[in-house]
Amino acid sequence: MKTISFILTIILTCGFGLAGAFDSGNFCQSQELDPKDKLIVETVLRLKDFDIETSAPAKAAILRYLRSQPGSEQYFKLIERFKPVEVADELARFSLDHADQTSGVRGAVLLFAMQQEQTLLALANGENQVDAVSAVKLIGHAGGTKIVPMLLPLLTDSKATAETRTAAVAALGRSSDGQETVLGLVTQGKLADELRFAAANILLSSENDSIAEMASKHLQLPATANRDPLPTVTELVKRTGNANAGKMIFRSTGTCLKCHKVLGDGTAVGPDLSEIGSKLSRDAMYVSILDPSQAISHNYETYALITDEGTQISGLLISETDEAVTLRTSEGIDKTVKQDTIEDLKKQSSSLMPQDLQKSMTVEQLVDLVEYLMTLRTVTPATR
Ligand code: HEC
Repeated sequence: MKTISFILTIILTCGFGLAGAFDSGNFCQSQELDPKDKLIVETVLRLKDFDIETSAPAKAAILRYLRSQPGSEQYFKLIERFKPVEVADELARFSLDHADQTSGVRGAVLLFAMQQEQTLLALANGENQVDAVSAVKLIGHAGGTKIVPMLLPLLTDSKATAETRTAAVAALGRSSDGQETVLGLVTQGKLADELRFAAANILLSSENDSIAEMASKHLQLPATANRDPLPTVTELVKRTGNANAGKMIFRSTGTCLKCHKVLGDGTAVGPDLSEIGSKLSRDAMYVSILDPSQAISHNYETYALITDEGTQISGLLISETDEAVTLRTSEGIDKTVKQDTIEDLKKQSSSLMPQDLQKSMTVEQLVDLVEYLMTLRTVTPATR
């Protein structure tokens, strides 16, 4: 240990040239990475009781290293070991950008370990919608006993979007006290209607039988064609269906083609689904169909318009100029209304996609439909 300490002193006091002497040949992974910093980092990581606050130059080198190597193994090791709050904001940014990956969750765990979870909470309550949802997810993965106090207020916050609040319900579902909290709101009739589907999914599939049983008295998943109760999304994703049968459902009973294009067929009311299997995971696919308002695709928000004559039109906003507004209705018809005849134009929180499409399908048909949608993938030149 003494020798390592000694080497550290030399690196810190000597010039840049010395680093060359330790050059193992793989120093130049990143353009901005200073080889001397890398050496310092490797050395301090080997020193069992090194205190970062005792050496300003070593600390500066570590911070520089952290800023140039986000996400590397050493990056996490250094933060775990020295907990430098100076990089909390950058760590939060990194975690948010990788919220659906192991590394993002690892970052969030460290933010909690550094007691910097307020950074995540601020983002969860912030204006940026994408960040807010990611921050809520990370709190759910890393927050442990803090999940409830951090996320409960969001559920009843009228400023938070339905998407952030449904993400909060899902995050609360990761702990048993979170599940009990959501169940409490349900039994007291305090859970907003638009959150009931998300709540039903987590509570009805709870590992805790008494939670699942109590929830079943208050919450039901939407009905299907043969009146079979719809299984929770957790259950549905475990099943496999027949993609060919699913394609038929998409084109017939499902009425999906009335609003979506697939490989040139269909009507462009909603997004083109030709590559949807590459975009959405299997569970996100179920949620998109069963609870469309949970996460409305960007640019596909529904608008409700009332004219001065009392005509009501709802649809997607296709264009808006100084003169007129054009909305595309759920039938795929474009309606243009002059600005000076518009009494009111408001963005809605619900999707234009109907809420109860599964009603015309059996559970098996729904599973087949999703199987088909999962096959709609980006065609890469190699597989073409
Ligand atoms: C009345 C029109 C309409 C019908 C019918 C309809 N959709 Fe949609 N769908 C939309 C709109 C509008 C959106 C975009 C808004 C949103 O995300 O909710 C959408 C979004 C989606 C998405 C998410 C797309 C994305 O890029 O994230 C999927 C998946 C989807 N629909 C599948 C289906 C399937 C499967 C059916 C048939 C069972 C169907 N839709 C029927 C209008 C419709």
